[in-house]
Amino acid sequence: MLYIGIDLGTSAVKLLLMDAEGNIRKIVSKSYNLAFPHTGWSEQNPEDWFGQSIEGLKELLDSENKELVRGISFGGQMHGLVTLDEDDNVIRPAILWNDGRTTKETEYLNSQIGKEKLSEYTANIAFAGFTAPKILWMQKNEPELWAMVKKIMLPKDYLVYRISGAFSTDYSDASGMLLLDVKNKKWSEEMLAICNISKEMLPELYESYEVVGNIKPELAELLGLKKDVKIIAGAGDNAAAAIGTGTIGEGTCNLSIGTSGTIFISSKNFRVDDNNALHSFAHADGGYHLMGCMLSAASCNMWWMNDILKTSNYSGEQAQIDKLGENKVFFLPYLMGERSPYNNPEARAVFFGMSMDTKREDMTQAVLEGVAFGLRDSLEVAKSLGIDIRSSKICGGGAKSEVWRKIIASVLNLRLDIVENEEGPGFGAAILAAVGCGEYPDVETACNKLVKVVSSVYPDKELVKKYEERYNKFKKIYPAVIGLYEE
Ligand code: XUL
Repeated sequence: MLYIGIDLGTSAVKLLLMDAEGNIRKIVSKSYNLAFPHTGWSEQNPEDWFGQSIEGLKELLDSENKELVRGISFGGQMHGLVTLDEDDNVIRPAILWNDGRTTKETEYLNSQIGKEKLSEYTANIAFAGFTAPKILWMQKNEPELWAMVKKIMLPKDYLVYRISGAFSTDYSDASGMLLLDVKNKKWSEEMLAICNISKEMLPELYESYEVVGNIKPELAELLGLKKDVKIIAGAGDNAAAAIGTGTIGEGTCNLSIGTSGTIFISSKNFRVDDNNALHSFAHADGGYHLMGCMLSAASCNMWWMNDILKTSNYSGEQAQIDKLGENKVFFLPYLMGERSPYNNPEARAVFFGMSMDTKREDMTQAVLEGVAFGLRDSLEVAKSLGIDIRSSKICGGGAKSEVWRKIIASVLNLRLDIVENEEGPGFGAAILAAVGCGEYPDVETACNKLVKVVSSVYPDKELVKKYEERYNKFKKIYPAVIGLYEE
């Protein structure tokens, strides 16, 4: 039997075909445009997601035995606002997770409604990227468009809707809307009232491994698939990536170095930190997790390489790095503002500490180190809650770089376990599809069977010491410049 995992990312949709033993038969990637119509705004066209996913599916299945495909599931970029009218037309481009236009709405929710109430209703406070502030923004700034809205959905749920007709979401992704009562896994009546929306506008809630419907007959025909191919709810990309790296159950950790950077701590039971510095969300294994999210991680390196150095030779540039732990240059990685731990959409990136002898590779190194220090900021919050983390899985495009992994291991002082399949969200989504189709009785059994650790990167004692010092200096730079962002 074969299972398909679709990872709806920010730069591309990645599709993966897996057999029942967890072997990846094929991976296909299809990119689409990401628009920044104003500074700090970030939008995509949901039609592009669907179009490229169908193109990707055709390529993925080409020369495969299509009769064997039993289920499809998803991992999707979280928090994005997709709005449909009564004829199911997309009303405006989706407003994405890394869009910072909702400063006022976020401020209104956190100050006027109040963080305590938000936390009581949803287990979280408002962050600019979350869905609820975007709904308020649209109501205020685009009232004619808002008047047309009949359905509100998240990015991957738009794909599910187009592919199966099911208007569904899962608890992990819904957690990031600030509309879900995460603890009790139901829509929060209070939040719906605060955001002036009705339950009919929101999708039906499922566990990530539950079946929401079958593929539409016309799509089955187009793709040469059987009509009873099951569509499984899927998860937010971080929860899906956690499944793909076997980060489930109690106290396990996953780092994802993608466009965003996240630290994901799985827990069996619901918990929330006093200051809501970490997100308290549902997990795709049926439990919960805490998560810190940096808005720019691998995207900092991409920006530095592609846009500034104008090179695609990432490994060649990184091979010049020869003084780990001794770099005088710092980089604050806030190209799109920052979520965890600062919740500041106005923050911007900074290079600090250059001198006449600063070289190109020092700045490349500073970019990689700045992302690692940013992740450390969230790890510190987790530690302050008494969570003891000694090791973590790691995935995402950035995790492929050896030197970056070495830096991250020593900055965070964690052993990093590398799994055989680095395709976090896509592989996790395929696992969810296999569980949904009954190939495995539950997510835990599936992960134990399918996810294999193949190597580990250990923190280097000397480097840990040196990075401790560097981190202490890094921590002082943001407070020193914050006033300038406000101006
Ligand atoms: C998580 C978040 C990002 C996106 C990236 O809260 O906003 O990780 O899900 O796709």
